[in-house]
Amino acid sequence: MAQKSKNKLPEKIFIKTFGCQMNEYDSARIRDLTKNNGFINSTDYKNSDCYIINTCHIREKATEKVFHEIGRIKKNFRNKKKPIIIVAGCVAQAEGEVLLERDKYIDAVIGPQSYHKINKIIDQIKEKERIEETDFEVIEKFDKLNVVKNENSKVSSYITIQEGCDKFCKFCVVPYTRGPENSRSLDHIISEAQTLVKNGAKEIILLGQNVNAYNYKEKKLSDLIFELEKIDELKRIRYTTSHPNDMTNDLIEIYSHSKKLMPFLHLPVQTGSDKLLKLMNRKHDKDFYLNIVSKLKKINANIEFSSDFIIGYPGETDKDFNESLDLLMEVKFIQTYSFIYSARPGTPAYNFKLNTLDDNKKKLAKFQKISNEIKIAYRKNLIGSKVKTLFENKMNEPNKYFGRDEYFNSVVVESENNLVGKIAEVKINKINNQTLFGEKISGEKKREFAA
Ligand code: SAH
Ligand code: SF4
Ligand code: F3S
Repeated sequence: MAQKSKNKLPEKIFIKTFGCQMNEYDSARIRDLTKNNGFINSTDYKNSDCYIINTCHIREKATEKVFHEIGRIKKNFRNKKKPIIIVAGCVAQAEGEVLLERDKYIDAVIGPQSYHKINKIIDQIKEKERIEETDFEVIEKFDKLNVVKNENSKVSSYITIQEGCDKFCKFCVVPYTRGPENSRSLDHIISEAQTLVKNGAKEIILLGQNVNAYNYKEKKLSDLIFELEKIDELKRIRYTTSHPNDMTNDLIEIYSHSKKLMPFLHLPVQTGSDKLLKLMNRKHDKDFYLNIVSKLKKINANIEFSSDFIIGYPGETDKDFNESLDLLMEVKFIQTYSFIYSARPGTPAYNFKLNTLDDNKKKLAKFQKISNEIKIAYRKNLIGSKVKTLFENKMNEPNKYFGRDEYFNSVVVESENNLVGKIAEVKINKINNQTLFGEKISGEKKREFAA
């Protein structure tokens, strides 16, 4: 189904996405849904009929980014017919009313749990209405998404399986922007995975704000992984983002027998200080975290970890910061994402007394330097070794292919043959902190791990 009327040219929709993978998934679904309403996806910033800014509210300057984008669009359309402007995502949820009030150029704000109504909203805008849709109708949304057909899958494709958060860490906006924890039906997820695989996906990345809190009618993430494994042409399974408190034994156990689950886990910890973990309301201590790491390492010594850290949380002393460094060095995370604490309006920590920004900047630089040294040491060790790589796309440079190894490291090789969608052994001969470079040394593998 393409156009509404045979005489009408399809309209062009341009979507700019900020934030996490869940927003990327949502933007892809918005593209699918609007296709049914006569829109085609556009990458032409200057000449589109509808602009959707899919926003993230996790750290400061989120609202400024929205107005910056709108300013750019306005400038471009100064002497032309105004396009439709929709702000979607977490800023829309948190500040929808303010956005509509502050700028008449915005036609609608749509929260992350309401975008399944996008076509109706666009039609209403055409009837000259301005709209705020910020209800948490996640069940209705999941139901609507289930009818979406994916025509061309990416080699590595996302599926959102869980939404929202009930954890209420004191610093975080997510429970307010995405609402309570909700899980999608297991059957619907399997059926979406089958469609994706039929259309070319080789890897599925399961998404959720607390993906390992997945629970649909007593079916847990481990059950879902077990079911997904049965899809023959699916080669790799990953999930993100997980919370330490939801790393239950059944999920840990699955690493001992899964052939397709990758031996790499993103497990955010935020800090190595028990005092701060408590002040953050993370509901576990450092030893609990380390115990998960050691249980997994016992099952498979090759499992590696990545994590998120917050630097300069209110009350963080040098001792607390050093405890984060100690944890970083103990686990030897192969990748970390670290940010200075950002006070978010509406969260319990918003009014806590802030640490000095200069000190925080120095601490962040030190943290990132050490984290990078760990990463480089790990990567230097890979030189000369073989890594199993799933190739995702051809690059712009001739004969160069981009893929990822089991640990989600970017791998680039040169090849005369088309490698897209194939898994191959790559011998690494050069590294930097972004990419592993190597040469392909074997054909496609039937299995990821030896049985
Ligand atoms: N649900 C996941 C994280 C989702 S938010 C978890 O709990 O692990 C992604 C990351 O953003 C968090 O892990 C945290 O490190 C960071 N973050 C969230 N709120 C923040 C804030 N107010 N300031 C700085 N970083 C923040
Ligand atoms: Fe935010 Fe904490 Fe929920 Fe993660 S667990 S989304 S950090 S409130
Ligand atoms: Fe950002 Fe919302 Fe994702 S705040 S990190 S887009 S859940």
